[in-house]
Amino acid sequence: MKNNTKLFSPLKLRGVTLPNRVVLSPLCMYSANSGVASNWQFAHLSTFARGGVGLVFAEATAVEPKGRITPRCLGIWTDEQAEALKPTTEFITSMGSVPGIQIAHAGRKASASPPWDGGKPLRIGDTAWGDPSWEVMGPSAVPLAEGWQTPHVMSEDDIAATINNFASSASRAVTAGFKVLEIHGAHGYLIHSFLSPLSNQRNDAYGGDLKGRMRFAIEVAEAVRASWPNDLPLFFRISAVDNHGWSIEDSVVLSNELKLRGVDVIDCSAGGISGAPAFRAKDDGSPVKTSSDRPLGFQVPYASQIRKGAGVATLAVGRIIEAHQAEKILNDDSADLIGIGRELMYNPFWTLHAAEQLKSEDVLEGWPDQYRWAITRRADLEQGAKNQR
Ligand SMILES: Cc1cc2nc3c(=O)[nH]c(=O)nc-3n(C[C@H](O)[C@H](O)[C@H](O)COP(=O)(O)O)c2cc1C
Repeated sequence: MKNNTKLFSPLKLRGVTLPNRVVLSPLCMYSANSGVASNWQFAHLSTFARGGVGLVFAEATAVEPKGRITPRCLGIWTDEQAEALKPTTEFITSMGSVPGIQIAHAGRKASASPPWDGGKPLRIGDTAWGDPSWEVMGPSAVPLAEGWQTPHVMSEDDIAATINNFASSASRAVTAGFKVLEIHGAHGYLIHSFLSPLSNQRNDAYGGDLKGRMRFAIEVAEAVRASWPNDLPLFFRISAVDNHGWSIEDSVVLSNELKLRGVDVIDCSAGGISGAPAFRAKDDGSPVKTSSDRPLGFQVPYASQIRKGAGVATLAVGRIIEAHQAEKILNDDSADLIGIGRELMYNPFWTLHAAEQLKSEDVLEGWPDQYRWAITRRADLEQGAKNQR
């Protein structure tokens, strides 16, 4: 097959070769029961492997019960939860894709209802969404926004226990069959809340200056790297900027520290530290208020700056919706991987269609046998119909 495209060139990371550069960005599904995956997770994630995505990430998966965003969020703090994910990783692997998982702790943004119920904070003990909701935790007694719980301030013992939870979840992810692991350090959740001066007002070794605020993130990365096999790649998602005291320069410093500790790819997202909608200034200075208002590829410059500044591989994400757009990001050396969320939900066969657009030969090669033979005939029929017109 003719393949001179970057998007469809493989990428080797440690002992794992991704077949192409398309990544399903982690997408919370709020469809687990007490953290155990349901048929929804299997159907949802399998779809993208069937659709040719190179690396399929399972959603933010909590490292302990209090680390879930909602009572319906996925978890990997028990062996039963890891076992329930095995059919999914097996199917993804059988399709030639690579199964990845994002491990996470929601911190002060936990204990909320799903977004289709408004993503509202729940009262402690509320059972409307399954398991009773719980007291949230964070670096300081600073709530996310009005109406949200004031977090329990984490002691050094709480911090050590949480780091252990990240490490043991990484071990369970191995037994579940995942080949790529991502630590969720973005979007205002626990790790990000330690990084940002807005939410971290501690004056001990885990707060204060940049070094202190980075300490928790770095210790999580070190512990996870120690329990995640050496031949498997480790990603770390950050909010490259949060508009509340965490800057792109801070992200370059952090990315470099993470690289030194064995993180292979920085996944460059943004925002989420405050309760208000994430915003950034438009060219005319007015704030961007909704996600659909944001320009295409709005976070790509962060991936590019971090890639150059820290000399580390990056994943670009955020309104990447078109094949040529994705190809250009890679050709410009702005990133090594392309993360896609909503466009893949809209069109799970995006990758196979992108191949058709970017390649000139054997355009159906990537399709599963079960579909390809029939689609080929459909194309013949279509051509015949055109000829008759
Ligand atoms: C329904 C939904 C769920 C999401 N869940 C997660 C998540 O679990 N972890 C995460 O880091 N980001 C999550 N995100 C953010 C996406 O991974 C992605 O970064 C964002 O949607 C921007 O990419 P897009 O414009 O291609 O959708 C979620 C986004 C959506 C729309």
